[in-house]
Amino acid sequence: QKAPGKHADRFAGQLVLVTGAASGIGRATAFAFAEAGARVVAVDRDGEGAARTAEMARLVGACDAWGECVDVSDEQAMEKLAAKVAAEYGIVDVLVNNAGIGLSGSFLDTSSEDWRKVLDVNLWGVIHGCRIFGKQMAERGQGGHIVNTASAAAYLPSRTLPAYSTSKAAVLMLSECLRAELASKAIGVSAICPGIVNTNITSTSRFAGVDAAEEKRRQERSSRLYGLRNFPPEKVADAILRAVVENRAVVPVTPESKGALWMS
Ligand code: NAI
Repeated sequence: QKAPGKHADRFAGQLVLVTGAASGIGRATAFAFAEAGARVVAVDRDGEGAARTAEMARLVGACDAWGECVDVSDEQAMEKLAAKVAAEYGIVDVLVNNAGIGLSGSFLDTSSEDWRKVLDVNLWGVIHGCRIFGKQMAERGQGGHIVNTASAAAYLPSRTLPAYSTSKAAVLMLSECLRAELASKAIGVSAICPGIVNTNITSTSRFAGVDAAEEKRRQERSSRLYGLRNFPPEKVADAILRAVVENRAVVPVTPESKGALWMS
């Protein structure tokens, strides 16, 4: 018997696909949807982590959950995933394009190869997900929702995260464009913009790399602005579910007291 969560059974029977679901915000989001009654497909390039998320989601939600090992930047792999999911589990009702990587370094010191790495995952991964699964949703004609994990970095210029911030600003804009296009088909599109959240990306990736002192100053400035020290991924997951339920366009995940940053 599962314990009723905050959004108890709100997503009962719905099929939810979350990318970047092996850890952090993606894993917390998979659990939150499972708790709300959804069937969950946990996707990650870390296949073991995705399988583990699915295993735990089944326990949390007492519903079906599956893990899939896919690199979101690989268009063909995403096409294959969409075809497999449609054939085996059905058309996705809610897609959460959440997979992302961090990479710090000044603009002038970031190589083209590093720019491509970040854009391939953070931007192209989202484009592939939106287009491939968005088409399936539109063709089915029963509505749906797409949530893209952008970042507060999308509108907070940074000297240490130019590629990351640029990728997230692009995700914010593509979400708004797609939202306008899909509104007539009852498909909502939301962009989530969290500040600093306690996950692997902020502790082990090259976010913490190139210039540690500068990075520390950035984080301190950000937490002064957003008050987000020790912000848990579960709060972002909750914001993602609320964005779907309330069909919100852009959702900065910041304490309400910093209300100036709420956009819509
Ligand atoms: P995380 O590092 O814990 O999770 C990211 C997940 O994405 C990992 O499981 C990783 O294996 C997966 N991933 C990376 N590249 C992939 C690819 N090519 N294909 C499939 N999966 C891939 O980090 P976190 O924080 O949970 O990040 C989730 C999203 O939230 C990212 O888009 C990130 O940019 C965004 N975000 C995170 C913030 C933070 O402070 N942690 C703040 C704002 C946004």
